[in-house]
Amino acid sequence: MGKIKTLADLRKMREKLKSETDLRDKSEHPEDMVQIKVAMATCCIASGSRETMNYIVDELEKRNVDAVVTQTGCMGYCYAEPTVEVTVPGKEPIVFGYVDEKKANEIIERYIKNGELVEGIIPMNYRSIEETK
Ligand code: FES
Repeated sequence: MGKIKTLADLRKMREKLKSETDLRDKSEHPEDMVQIKVAMATCCIASGSRETMNYIVDELEKRNVDAVVTQTGCMGYCYAEPTVEVTVPGKEPIVFGYVDEKKANEIIERYIKNGELVEGIIPMNYRSIEETK
């Protein structure tokens, strides 16, 4: 970082430090935040998951929703790509299928912000595998 010569430089430095601190706080307590995983295997990307993820990241920021958005590999629901797993603090993870921008908007507005269930939930199969061990 260069020398601080003006008030604007000082403000810029303060903003940078604040965003770094926020990022560190978020990464230390991800369970306190909405966590969103977007399946990003090759065929997910071909089905539009990158556009879905970019839309989700942009919209969460615009709507001031604190969330951690990460990429993951195939979640095993290839028939319903793009697939997105959403975990709201205190609730079980839910996987949504066929998540285009319209569905992503609905998930953010109705499920994440208001706690309403929305159509497009895929029954998760990994729990039954875990429970049989
Ligand atoms: S490879 Fe895309 S969800 Fe399985």
